[in-house]
Amino acid sequence: MSEQPDDVTPSPPASQDGERGRTATRTDFDVYQYEIYAAGLGGQRPSLPIAAGEWEQRFRASVPPEAYDYVAGGAGSEDTMRANLEAFRRWRLVPRMLRDVDKRDLRVRLLGAELPAPVLLAPVGVQGIVHEEGELAPARAASALGVPVVLSTASTRSIEEVAEACGDGVRWFQLYWGRDRDIVASFVGRAERAGYRAIVVTLDTQLVAWRPRDLATAYLPFLQGIGIAQYLSDPVFRSQLERSPEEDMPAAVGRWVSIATNPTLDWDDLAFLRERTSLPIVLKGILSPHDARKAVDAGLNGVVVSNHGGRQLDGAIASLDALPGVVAAVPDGFPVLFDSGIRTGADIVKALALGARAVLLGRPYVWGLGVAGEEGVRAVLRGLLADLDLSLALSGHRSVSELSPDAVQAASVSSSQS
Ligand code: FNR
Repeated sequence: MSEQPDDVTPSPPASQDGERGRTATRTDFDVYQYEIYAAGLGGQRPSLPIAAGEWEQRFRASVPPEAYDYVAGGAGSEDTMRANLEAFRRWRLVPRMLRDVDKRDLRVRLLGAELPAPVLLAPVGVQGIVHEEGELAPARAASALGVPVVLSTASTRSIEEVAEACGDGVRWFQLYWGRDRDIVASFVGRAERAGYRAIVVTLDTQLVAWRPRDLATAYLPFLQGIGIAQYLSDPVFRSQLERSPEEDMPAAVGRWVSIATNPTLDWDDLAFLRERTSLPIVLKGILSPHDARKAVDAGLNGVVVSNHGGRQLDGAIASLDALPGVVAAVPDGFPVLFDSGIRTGADIVKALALGARAVLLGRPYVWGLGVAGEEGVRAVLRGLLADLDLSLALSGHRSVSELSPDAVQAASVSSSQS
């Protein structure tokens, strides 16, 4: 765990408003809580859910059953999916008292950008199955709050459409590196031109895992041409087709099937990407300290500790359990991001204390999207950021850079059972 890596230290305030430590750019995430209680004085209760479990229930009631299962489900026995959540229950925060936590600053610097909080939206494919606006609604909601978006290769809206929805908002592009290098290069070039600021290469999906819920309903939206917008809008992909996707969608889908996944990929391939882009490259799906070390040695710019929310290798280690080993394997200051199982502010504090620079939010924002589109994503994010802000304060910290492993303790199984 790094003490004060350069890139973590909150940048100096742009301007002071006269109060100690308070800056003009600071965002008061906890204000959301007071807004809700103030509205309650007028008899108004929130129309949208607050707790994660309620969001998921409302989501289930709001979208078609196959779409619910696609989002909720995992690989195999869903053991890893459960383990992700259980791992958070095995770490407890050890709050510190009498530390003046009145003024807080959640900002972090990450790959050259200053973020208002250490939270990004994870790449989640095929969002069009839960809401007609698909990836555009989260792009708008997140960008309005300064939260970066990581756009999936497997999305229902194109790189360019989502860039427009983001406006000035920070966006990264997640690459599924398929079998056709010309298409890979084309995607990366499009992302660069559309203002994406990093390429996140997802490594854990060399093949799509055995997913019983989707198999039981024989549901894979891509085969219906849903979730392949990057390909359908790509000049290189289109040039490989005899007839355009508009004229012959089954042929386009057939071509997509033949190139979408690439189990041949290895470490040497990364040089191809490095030669084609000057953007930072982040590897997503790293769980082993050995792979983390290889990422550093290969000159990559960051890793995401992730098991894809338990949707790929069933039986894989919980993402939170993998985090300390990965952090220990990389040099101080090397960006280690985290996802898989983030549901509350306390979860984020735990992941940061264990060495994550920032976290990616996955399923919860998709619940918001399915329930209420842009407004739903905004409510999920505001709630999570308020919870994070308050949890940081209550744990005795004013900034995320103050967090260290001292803030957490592993709860022993025997003591929790006694
Ligand atoms: C994902 N995830 C994912 N990851 C990725 O790199 N590219 C993708 O296209 C997708 N698609 C996708 C679809 C759905 C429905 C889900 C739920 C997830 C994985 C995602 O980025 C992230 O790793 C997980 O969502 C984290 O787990 P939790 O916190 O959502 O349980």
